[in-house]
Amino acid sequence: MSSIAFTNIHTLVTSDSSLGEGPLGVLHGASVITEDGIVTEIRQGIPSGVDSEVDCSDKTLLPGFVDSHSHLIFAGDRADEFSARSRGQKYTAGGIASTVNATRHASDEQLRQNAQRLLNEALAYGTTTMEIKSGYGLTEKDELRSIDIAAEFTEETTLLAAHVIPEDFLTDPDGYVDLIINSIIPKSNSKWIDVFCDLGAFNPEQSEAILRAGIAQGMSARIHANQLSAGKGVEIAVSLGAASADHVSKSTKADIDLLASSTTVATLLPGAEFSTHAEENLGRRFLDAGVRVAIASDCNPGSSFTTSMPFCIAAAVSILGFTVEEAVLAATIGGARALRRVDIGQISVGKRADFVLLDAPSYIHLAYRPGVNLVHSTYKSGRAVTSWQK
Ligand code: NIG
Ligand code: FE
Repeated sequence: MSSIAFTNIHTLVTSDSSLGEGPLGVLHGASVITEDGIVTEIRQGIPSGVDSEVDCSDKTLLPGFVDSHSHLIFAGDRADEFSARSRGQKYTAGGIASTVNATRHASDEQLRQNAQRLLNEALAYGTTTMEIKSGYGLTEKDELRSIDIAAEFTEETTLLAAHVIPEDFLTDPDGYVDLIINSIIPKSNSKWIDVFCDLGAFNPEQSEAILRAGIAQGMSARIHANQLSAGKGVEIAVSLGAASADHVSKSTKADIDLLASSTTVATLLPGAEFSTHAEENLGRRFLDAGVRVAIASDCNPGSSFTTSMPFCIAAAVSILGFTVEEAVLAATIGGARALRRVDIGQISVGKRADFVLLDAPSYIHLAYRPGVNLVHSTYKSGRAVTSWQK
C-alpha cells in the first residue's frame, strides 16, 4: 500500500456539493489522502503516518478534467480552413474529406505519435480521462486501425465510421451505411458508437440504423447532433438512451425540454463554438432548462484544434454564458456523466485519485486568466504524470 497526503490545500474543489461550499463543494485548508490511487479520506489538518506528502499551500486542487469528446486519430492539419473562416467562410462538413485523405495515407506509427503528442498536451492542461473517436478513416481497414490505436491510449473508444459519407461512396451513400452496419461494427471492439447526424453527413434514418446496430453489438450510443442545423439527432439520442448528445448548437426549445426530461447529457463544445463563430449564450439555454451538461474539447483538426480544457472552461464562460462554477462542474463531473463513469470527475472517498493541481489560489483563475497554463501538475491514480499513458 502506498499512501499520499495532499496537504494545506488552499482551495479544494470536490465537484460534490455535499462536501463543501457552493455547487463545487469547495473546502479551504483541507487535506486529501490517497491509497493505491484511490481517495481514502478528506479531512482538515495534516495527517500523520502517510508515505509521502504534497504541500498544496497557495494552490487549487480539482478533479482531473474529463474530456468526453475528441477526434485524435488523424494526420495533417487544416490551418488554411481556419484562416478562411477568419475572413467570413462558414464551417461545413466538407473539410473532413481532406483529413480523411491525410489519415488514410499515414502509417500507424504516425497516427500513434500524433495522438500521443496531443494527449501529452491535454495532460499538461489537466485532462486525466479522454474519450477518443475514429472517423477520419472511413474504410473498414482505416476505421478499425483507428479504434485499435485509440484503444492503446484510453478505455473510452468511440467508433465514428459514420462521420461523413466518404468520396468513394458519394453516389451510393446507403452502400456505406451497409458497410458500417454489416462489416465495420461487427469487427469493432469500441465501447461507444457515434454518428454525425447533420447536414452534409448522415440523415436521421441512417443515423438511427447505425446507432441501433452498434447497440445490438454491445456498444453504447452517443451522437453529434444539431451542430450545423436543427434535426432529429436529439430525439434519436433520447429515444435510444444515448449517454450524450454533443454540439447541440442549433437545438430547438423542444430538443432542450426533451433533454431536460432525460438522462442524456448535453455536451457543449466551446472550442468548436469559438473556432466556427457560433451564436452566443448557447449554454444558458440548456443550463436554465435543467439539462445535465458537460463540456469537452472536441479536439480535431477542423472545427476545434485545442486540447486545453482550461481554454474550454474560459470559452464556456465568455461565449456560452456559463458561470465559472457551472463550467468547472461541466468539465469534471459533467464529463464523467457523459461517459457514464462513476469513478472519476469528483474528489471524494472511493473515487480515483485523478487530480489537477493549479498554481493559483482559486478555480476562478481557469477562466479569469485565459490562455495561461496554470497547471502545476496532473495526477492519474495518485501519480504525477507528464506523459500520457492509458
Ligand atoms: O465534432 N462535427 C463533426 N465532427 C467534428 C469536426 C470534424 C472536422 O471538421 O474535421 C466536430 O466538430
Ligand atoms: Fe466531434
